Amino acid sequence: MNPVPDTSDAVTIAVLGGTGPFGRAFIREFAVQGVGVRILARKPGPVAARFPGVEVLRGSMLDVAGACRAMAGAKGALLITPVGGNDNTAIELRAARVAVAAARRVCLPHLIYVSLIQPSHPTGVPMLDVKRDIERLIAASGIPWSSLRTGCYMDAWLAFLRPFMKRGFYLFPINSRHRFSFTSEPDVARAATLLMRYGQILYGAVDVIEPRARTLQEVARAYEAATGCRLRLLGHWFLPVLKALQPLAFRWAFPTGASRVGLLDYFDRHDWIGDPDQASKMILGFHPTGMERHLKTRQKFL
Ligand SMILES: NC(=O)c1ccc[n+]([C@@H]2O[C@H](COP(=O)([O-])OP(=O)(O)OC[C@H]3O[C@@H](n4cnc5c(N)ncnc54)[C@H](OP(=O)(O)O)[C@@H]3O)[C@@H](O)[C@H]2O)c1
Repeated sequence: MNPVPDTSDAVTIAVLGGTGPFGRAFIREFAVQGVGVRILARKPGPVAARFPGVEVLRGSMLDVAGACRAMAGAKGALLITPVGGNDNTAIELRAARVAVAAARRVCLPHLIYVSLIQPSHPTGVPMLDVKRDIERLIAASGIPWSSLRTGCYMDAWLAFLRPFMKRGFYLFPINSRHRFSFTSEPDVARAATLLMRYGQILYGAVDVIEPRARTLQEVARAYEAATGCRLRLLGHWFLPVLKALQPLAFRWAFPTGASRVGLLDYFDRHDWIGDPDQASKMILGFHPTGMERHLKTRQKFL
């Protein structure tokens, strides 16, 4: 007999680290899925205004007591670790340790970590490699956990320097023919919702990515097909500029931006591809969203 999802109870998820640019889409999708969301934020006012109907608690994700308050009584917690400045990943590890300590203290039923797909060898990119370290840390803690490994977020590529894209100039700063796996942002919340509703705990990691990998050029073609607007790829000069700025201007003015330069440099030189079949095999009822379908739902936004 197939297992049946639990739709009887109101399901609440605590979201730690979800108020940054990449967590917002997850919070919106949880609401669409009928999941109650409790967010922990240092400045709850603007967050509550942005997400009406969502419970927002004042507190820091780096404080165990605050994380405990967010997790208390929740069916699960979604952990998104914040990007550290200048390739320093200490804050990501600290956020993970806090989440584990709080999960233990409140006997959280399920900690769901939002990770990144991991090639077979370390990449040398700190913000990428630290995700595997965090998965190991959570696994070693013995708490119930799952890790959703994401590829490149679709909106981040399809709305990159949006005003320029609208004028037909795609300035994504790589000059690469390499292929990348992509994740539709709402899929992360959908996968987490299914895990919670089915009471399914993976005790491991799963790649949540669309069925095919794409080059930057193919991303541009998908955008053109969906919007009818022609895109000229003009970002190749941008990466050398960013790399030149990284040790000086970026380091002081935009430390978290400096951390992302290494990732872009990696993308310029390597494929970054996960296993597209994993999630539909491992998460009951889950089917990843392809970029073409994602674009249809995002037409207005784009
Ligand atoms: N798959 C992809 O394509 C992709 C792309 C980019 C990033 N990522 C990953 O997505 C994750 C989130 O990135 P992001 O840029 O959204 O994160 P972020 O803005 O750096 O941080 C997320 C949240 O963490 C909290 N936070 C940050 N610094 C803090 C501090 N010093 N003390 C306490 N709380 C702090 C903040 O919450 P409050 O201010 O509300 O308290 C913030 O909104 C990262 O792990 C990154 O590696 C993935």
